Amino acid sequence: MRILGIETSCDETAAAVVEDGERVLSNIVASQYSLHAEYGGVVPEIASRAHAKRMMPILQASVDEAGLQWADIDAVAVGHQPGLIGSLLVGVAAAKALAWSLGRPLIGIDHLHAHLYAARMSAEHEDVYPALGLLVSGGHTAMYRCTGPTELERLGGTIDDAIGEAFDKVASILGLGHPGGPAIDQLAGQDGADDRAYDFPISRLDKDSLDFSYSGLKTAVLYAVRGRPRPKSDGGGFVKDHSSLTDAQRRDIAASFQRAACKAIMIKLDRAVQVARNNQFEYKSVLIGGGVSANTRLRSELLAFGKARGTPVHMPPMSLCVDNAAMIAALACQVYQDRGADDLTLTASPSTKR
Ligand code: KG4
Ligand code: ZN
Repeated sequence: MRILGIETSCDETAAAVVEDGERVLSNIVASQYSLHAEYGGVVPEIASRAHAKRMMPILQASVDEAGLQWADIDAVAVGHQPGLIGSLLVGVAAAKALAWSLGRPLIGIDHLHAHLYAARMSAEHEDVYPALGLLVSGGHTAMYRCTGPTELERLGGTIDDAIGEAFDKVASILGLGHPGGPAIDQLAGQDGADDRAYDFPISRLDKDSLDFSYSGLKTAVLYAVRGRPRPKSDGGGFVKDHSSLTDAQRRDIAASFQRAACKAIMIKLDRAVQVARNNQFEYKSVLIGGGVSANTRLRSELLAFGKARGTPVHMPPMSLCVDNAAMIAALACQVYQDRGADDLTLTASPSTKR
């Protein structure tokens, strides 16, 4: 079965064709970084307009690159929740039009489920469920108990910023471009980068908490770069900015931040293992998903964790870490077998509804 997937939940317009839920025949992603760069973040209105403009060429490219004709597509899948509503609506409208005109089933997919399913795709035919799921993206940082690809029970999540958001904000504080994750990853990996040069806070929260917090870390980096803000009586504001940093300082701040950000994840993963043990929740593997799963340091710490615990840890291949439509099409194959298709009343939703 060849499924065409569509993904437009944020600022990537993506379409892909996946065969039988595992063979990626095409995977087209058009990023909008340059459109949002001057605003320092994603502007929803600009994102949805760009999706509308790019959708048709991207769909055509996904079919062409797969070496197929439209008639070869057996079903159409779309990420319909959660995300920016205007952006999701473009993808959902395109998917409905396509499914209706081709006379093919329409399958709505949850974006977060798809991110975790991308990790499942690297596990080949191994039995991974039940699993501990860890989602680390620009919009989410959460831990789940997964009894199947769409059966997720949330164990904890961020109480403020998501980890990817922290990478992006720290990159902006350091004067690096958007998205910040890859830029920090690259800087922190440079020769001579000292990840202990700055003692940034690692959030733990309550003793048993599986929640995350990244705003304190972000603020600590802000003060390390710009100094403490002046009191209001002195006019407020900061005395300096990133331009006063040396290259070595910039590198060390990136490495120290990345160390703290990753350490917070690893602490919570250790706790989740404990919680699972206390609650007799058996799990066969750990599934990692979301854009930050592309991070070099996090990947190596997760692999070391798996080795030390004797637990298989599955991460998406690099091409499926950040937002893409192949993960949507792949999961759709499973969902179609499990619960069949949706009808044309499928709606976009900014949060996870069902
Ligand atoms: O999953 P994703 O594409 O979008 C959401 O669903 O949110 O994740 C995007 C996030 C961005 O914050 C980006 O900076 C981060 O993933 N990211 C990285 C790396 N590559 C992407 N963060 C750290 N290291 C990376 N190599
Ligand atoms: Zn995503």
